Amino acid sequence: MKKDDEKDYTLLDMFLENPGQFLSGEEISRRLSISRTAVWKQINKLRQAGYDFEAVPRMGYRMTDAPDQLRAEELIAGLSSEQFGRNVVILESTTSTQEEARLLAEQGAAEGTLVISEEQTGGRGRMGRKFHSPRGKGIWMSLILRPEQPLHLTQQLTLLTGVAVCRGIQKATGIQTDIKWPNDLLLSGKKVCGILLESAAEDDRVRYCIAGIGISVNLKEEDFPEELRPIATSLRLAGGQALNRTVLIQHIMYEMEVLYKLYNEQGFQAIASLWEALSGTIQREVKVQSQRGVVTGVAIGLNPSGALLVKVDGDIVPVYSGDVEF
Ligand code: BTN
Repeated sequence: MKKDDEKDYTLLDMFLENPGQFLSGEEISRRLSISRTAVWKQINKLRQAGYDFEAVPRMGYRMTDAPDQLRAEELIAGLSSEQFGRNVVILESTTSTQEEARLLAEQGAAEGTLVISEEQTGGRGRMGRKFHSPRGKGIWMSLILRPEQPLHLTQQLTLLTGVAVCRGIQKATGIQTDIKWPNDLLLSGKKVCGILLESAAEDDRVRYCIAGIGISVNLKEEDFPEELRPIATSLRLAGGQALNRTVLIQHIMYEMEVLYKLYNEQGFQAIASLWEALSGTIQREVKVQSQRGVVTGVAIGLNPSGALLVKVDGDIVPVYSGDVEF
């Protein structure tokens, strides 16, 4: 005999596998081996949990709304990517998905394995900064990559990830973000997404990279700490409505996979051209706080390793890491 919550899960699966379609009470009752009254009770239980259904005589039930909770089955069912995101772990809470993904990578998890968490209690950004990752409001995820390349080229994958996320957001929501070198996505000058690429290597060969992606999706003004409000925003604040995180992740996984294949087949130049087209940094006066000091000039493009080229009084200076200010 199945337990009640197991029945709930199966009924939900049936609807998630058939998005937008009517399922008759008779079919549900036959497939789950439960009575028509039990079907109706299960539907009502799901309604209480935040799902909504349209009920039409002789056609059955159709799911019209679902609570904003990330679910692996739903995510996988709508993926267009072949590999990326198909092996997915969704956590309720963790310190950092980077750490979870690193443990999985060390245990041999395949390329394309994705770790997502509803919240991070110790989300981290570049240069030891904290990354604000409140529960249920954003996409906090880490993707395992296993590129066969020397360590010094991993900067290119940071730029590739920026392009993939920018394109994924555009395709899922119509919202156009700007890429700020190397790894922030901006909306009207405010940060909406950060990317952190961490690698493990042996003898300068990469063993794996973890592409950490943090997108502020549905945060309202009050969800940001006071100090971030002048510099951070969310897709919801820009677009005026709450967005479906699952659809966003599906698009990003697809774009990541397509661009990663392009990168492996044609090299970095193909990615660099896409990056330059989407970047709000090129042809602008910039001030970069780099490890070697402050560089001030006009950003003119990327060099073959992904460094930002800044024209300073007739000289062209490559900047390999740092923070850009406009
Ligand atoms: C930055 O803005 O400097 C990079 C931020 C990267 C945040 C993401 S959220 C998912 C993953 N887990 C983390 O702890 N950080 C990355």
